Amino acid sequence: MFRVKLLIIIGFSLMALSSCFDSKPKAYVIEDSKSYESSLFRQNCAICHGPEGNGKTLDDGRIVPSLRTGEFKFKTEDDIYRQIADGGNGMLPFRNQLTERELRLLAALVYKDLRKANTKIVE
Ligand code: HEC
Repeated sequence: MFRVKLLIIIGFSLMALSSCFDSKPKAYVIEDSKSYESSLFRQNCAICHGPEGNGKTLDDGRIVPSLRTGEFKFKTEDDIYRQIADGGNGMLPFRNQLTERELRLLAALVYKDLRKANTKIVE
């Protein structure tokens, strides 16, 4: 009998928990976020990619891609990590300016929060 009750409790907990996730996901707002990686983004990336990572055209005419929508050149989190670390094609390398942990945090921010959050909205 105890087992049955336990199962029911676990079942309801899971239902309550899952309702947190299938409610309409909101886009990740960098400006509102107090996370460490979003402050890294504001300090290092926003100048080129825009405050919310939507991309922009720089004064010299260089086009900086959106990190949220469009065709992504770098598909995996590791590809993104390498682009941030090594730079290239108009982007500065950050390997010597950020720590390994910070590079990983930023790759995860781009891959999981900016891209994924947006993909869900488009669906
Ligand atoms: C000097 C301007 C500049 C800065 C600063 C900059 N980027 Fe970029 N970034 C670019 C340009 C230009 C590209 C396009 C490179 C290409 O086409 O290969 C790019 C490409 C990228 C891409 C690949 C997008 C794709 O299509 O897959 C990612 C991810 C990225 N940047 C993340 C960052 C992050 C995170 C930071 C901060 C640590 C940052 N960038 C800082 C200019 C910049």
